Amino acid sequence: MKINGTPTRTIWLAADGWAVEIIDQTRLPHELVTTRLESLADAAHAIKAMLVRGAPLIGATAAYGMALAARANSSDLALTVAYNILHATRPTAINLKWALNEMIQALGTVAEADRVATAYARAAEIADEDVAINSAIGDNGATLIQAAWEQAQARGADSVNVLTHCNAGWLATVDWGTAIAPIYKAHDAGIPVHVWVDETRPRNQGASLTARELNWHGVPHTVIADNTGGHLMQHGLVDLCIVGTDRTTRQGDVCNKIGTYLKALAAKDNNVPFYVALPSPTIDWSVADGVAEIPIEERDPTEQTHMTGKTEDGHIVTVQVTPDGSPAGNWGFDVTPARLVSGLITERGVCAASPDGLLAMFPERAV
Ligand code: MRU
Repeated sequence: MKINGTPTRTIWLAADGWAVEIIDQTRLPHELVTTRLESLADAAHAIKAMLVRGAPLIGATAAYGMALAARANSSDLALTVAYNILHATRPTAINLKWALNEMIQALGTVAEADRVATAYARAAEIADEDVAINSAIGDNGATLIQAAWEQAQARGADSVNVLTHCNAGWLATVDWGTAIAPIYKAHDAGIPVHVWVDETRPRNQGASLTARELNWHGVPHTVIADNTGGHLMQHGLVDLCIVGTDRTTRQGDVCNKIGTYLKALAAKDNNVPFYVALPSPTIDWSVADGVAEIPIEERDPTEQTHMTGKTEDGHIVTVQVTPDGSPAGNWGFDVTPARLVSGLITERGVCAASPDGLLAMFPERAV
């Protein structure tokens, strides 16, 4: 992603070569602020307080968190403590555990004296791998947008409309995004793509983050209230849906930001294709039934009862939107069963959301 013409990742090594820098996403869309992570505690806070968020970026941040931890103390005990602290930050996105396991595996093969260098090298690889994977997802998903555009053209439409939920773009990954990568590739290839952006209450990742980055990249888009998608689909205004995922099971069930399931139901009822874009580290091969087995994060109810925004005179303020005394519930994710998913867009190609579909893409996972 370029901001003001400068290629920018969402996480990078500071000029001093050891601290890690991130974009503080709690300050978007109104302010672009970067923050230094200098310790395990900083990395854990950044994930837990959602300065960084999105499954792949959570994984990359955890990997660098292990490098920062190793820099302070690279004993077996200290690294186990670091693993546990980082693992406890957020429960649903499986990329977190995947990245931590990758780090422990790499660190387990080297002498203690070499662990700091190894940790930084593996964290950098994880970040680079994420960029390459997401670029490939973009290429594979862009062919679906191209096909939808050809059908839309045949009907006399002047653009192809994609609906997305939450933020599964550049800001949710190290670069490119997952669900938004195909949109960037299609847009850059000259396909007139327009994006319906679900606001994604309660934290508004769609309104604050997806809209922000589509805006930076110049992709036409419209922010809509979360409950609008079904209406748009009934009126032929959505050609396809593409969303991301925080954890996909081996049978193709998809856990993603709360509200994704309702969009998939509406898409099914209206014969709108519903695709999920995912890098392979988001597949949890140990889980089959997503509804029964994936832990769903429950977050602070104040995210529901309060909203933050910019006043006309430029001040950032938080206001309460519910009456005093009304309790609120705040489940962060839901599971869309595989039967509602038209296909999974992976770095290796597009497959059915089924055990056979996933194993055809990743045959090395067959037992
Ligand atoms: O709670 P968040 O903002 O971390 O949730 C993010 C999402 O649900 C994304 O859609 C998901 O991580 C896929 S991102 C590539």
